[in-house]
Amino acid sequence: MRIAFIGDIVGSPGRDMLKSYLPKLKKEHGIDFVIANYENVSHGFGLTAKNANEVVSYGVDCMSGGNHSWDKKEVEALFATHEILRPHNYPEEVSGTGCKIYDVAGERLGVLNLMGHFAMPYTDNAFRCAKESVEALHADGVKNIFIDFHAEATSEKRAMMMLLMGRVSAIIGTHTHVGTDDFQIVNSTAYLTDIGLTGCRDNVIGMDEKVPLKQFLTGMRGHFDIPKKCKKIMQIAILDISKGRCESAFKLKIFDDDTIIKTDAWIES
Ligand code: FE2
Repeated sequence: MRIAFIGDIVGSPGRDMLKSYLPKLKKEHGIDFVIANYENVSHGFGLTAKNANEVVSYGVDCMSGGNHSWDKKEVEALFATHEILRPHNYPEEVSGTGCKIYDVAGERLGVLNLMGHFAMPYTDNAFRCAKESVEALHADGVKNIFIDFHAEATSEKRAMMMLLMGRVSAIIGTHTHVGTDDFQIVNSTAYLTDIGLTGCRDNVIGMDEKVPLKQFLTGMRGHFDIPKKCKKIMQIAILDISKGRCESAFKLKIFDDDTIIKTDAWIES
C-alpha cells in the first residue's frame, strides 16, 4: 500500500494548500490512503464539523489529533461520525479513540495516535500505551502500523522510534510545526522526528508573529491569530508499506508558487 501523511494543518492557509495540491498528488503518486493531523485545522485551534467535511472532501481518509483535539467542542460528535482519532494515551474515560484499523489496498493498516509528555497535558504513559497498543494490533494480525506521535520533545520522539523500530511501519512526529531533516528507514520502520506544518511559512509556526513577539518581549500572553495573507507550504510524507515493513519513503515540501522539494528517506543498513 502507498499511504501519505500530512502533519499539523494550520487554519485556512493550510486548508487552501490541501485543496490546491492534495487531489492531484493522490493521482500523480497513486496514494491509497491519506492520514492528516487536524488539531489546528480550524483557525489554528481544533476542528469544526464544517472544516472536517472540507478536509475529507480534499481526500483525507483519517485524521489524527493532539493537545488541541478538543478546542472546538463539536469534535466530540465528530468522533462518532468521522474517521477522527485523538491521542490514545488519554485516559479511557475521555471520549474518542486513538487507534483504528482500516482495509487499504488488500491489507490491513492500524493507525495509532499518541501524545508525548514534555510541555503537554497530563495523560497516561505514552510509551507504555504504545507498547501495549502495538502488541494488541500484532495479536489481532495487524502488521502495518502507522503512528502519529504528537510531542514537543525531540528526545521523546527518538526514544519512541528506538522502542518500536522493527515492530511498526512508520512513526512520524507532529506538534512543533517545524520540519526536521532526519527522515530514515531503520529496521523497516520509517521515522521522522517532525514533518512540519501545512499552512503559513513566513511567520511563527503558522501564526501571525505580532502576538508571539509581544509575548516573548513582555511576558504578556495573547491570543494567537492566523495571518490574513501569507506565503504557504504543504509538507507531506509518502510511504510504501507492505507486510508491516516500510520499503521506501519520501517527503515533499510544496510551496505555493509550485516549487517542490523532494527528500528521500535514507535506509539505514
Ligand atoms: Fe499540538
